[in-house]
Amino acid sequence: MITKAEELFSLQGRVALVTGASSGLGHRFARVLAAHGAKVVVAARRADKLAELVKEIEADGGTAAAVEMDVSDQASIAGSFDEAEKPFGTANILVNNAGIAKRGSVVEFSPEDWRAIMDVNLDGVWYVGQESARRMIAANVAGSIINIASILGRRVAATMAGYAVTKAAVIQMTRSMAVELARNNIRVNAIAPGYILTDINSAFFDTDQGKAMIDFIPQRRIGSPSDLDGTLLLMASDNAAGFMTGSTITVDGGHVLAFAR
Ligand SMILES: NC(=O)c1ccc[n+]([C@@H]2O[C@H](COP(=O)([O-])OP(=O)(O)OC[C@H]3O[C@@H](n4cnc5c(N)ncnc54)[C@H](OP(=O)(O)O)[C@@H]3O)[C@@H](O)[C@H]2O)c1
Repeated sequence: MITKAEELFSLQGRVALVTGASSGLGHRFARVLAAHGAKVVVAARRADKLAELVKEIEADGGTAAAVEMDVSDQASIAGSFDEAEKPFGTANILVNNAGIAKRGSVVEFSPEDWRAIMDVNLDGVWYVGQESARRMIAANVAGSIINIASILGRRVAATMAGYAVTKAAVIQMTRSMAVELARNNIRVNAIAPGYILTDINSAFFDTDQGKAMIDFIPQRRIGSPSDLDGTLLLMASDNAAGFMTGSTITVDGGHVLAFAR
């Protein structure tokens, strides 16, 4: 029997939690999951942005709720999950997306910037993933955790050391979690996006250096958040990707393959 795409990628009956949903990729991820039938809880620190997103999803016919969450505040994460569970129950899809970027040379990078990037991109991803897995196990539900890494987890770039370290760690965390959580029917995969125009990098792409970089991407463009829709849905869907765990998929217009010119 062949399952048609609409059914293969349907998320009816699923509950998704998306961190960092107040802008950029997370905002898009939440809308895409809701459009495919998931009830979506959107999380971040900016409550006003989350409230706008909930309205947008509802206007599109979807179901959503918002919860304030600071992923860098470990002590608050369990409480935020308690709030997140109130509207729809335990999330069986987690998009572990919240992240920040900070530029600075190796010799000048400040301890404050190093701590901040580790707190959000490394500790935050770990503690949110851990809490989510604990709750899926307690509720005895199969689940999918999707971590958002980066091509800078696979290669490096000058002035991006701290960020690259966290994203390499996210790829290894994805594999480590996948191995242990497979016995609980929880799949853990990661997306490694190339450069996608969002608030995290729009200032950089306004500079000459940023514009010049586009020439070195084989497809000669930066991505838009919609370029990740298919990979997100694949990883979220137990029907489409039930045998896939521990994988990191690169979506980057060919950027990591080679310098184009
Ligand atoms: N755009 C790219 O080219 C690209 C490429 C590779 C990987 N990524 C990754 O994709 C993810 C999303 O980035 P983006 O491009 O969408 O950037 P963005 O537009 O700046 O969004 C970042 C999101 O993370 C949230 N966030 C930041 N600190 C947080 C905290 N302490 N607690 C909870 N939420 C927090 C922000 O919400 P609040 O400020 O409201 O909390 C915001 O919603 C990041 O992990 C990033 O590293 C992006």
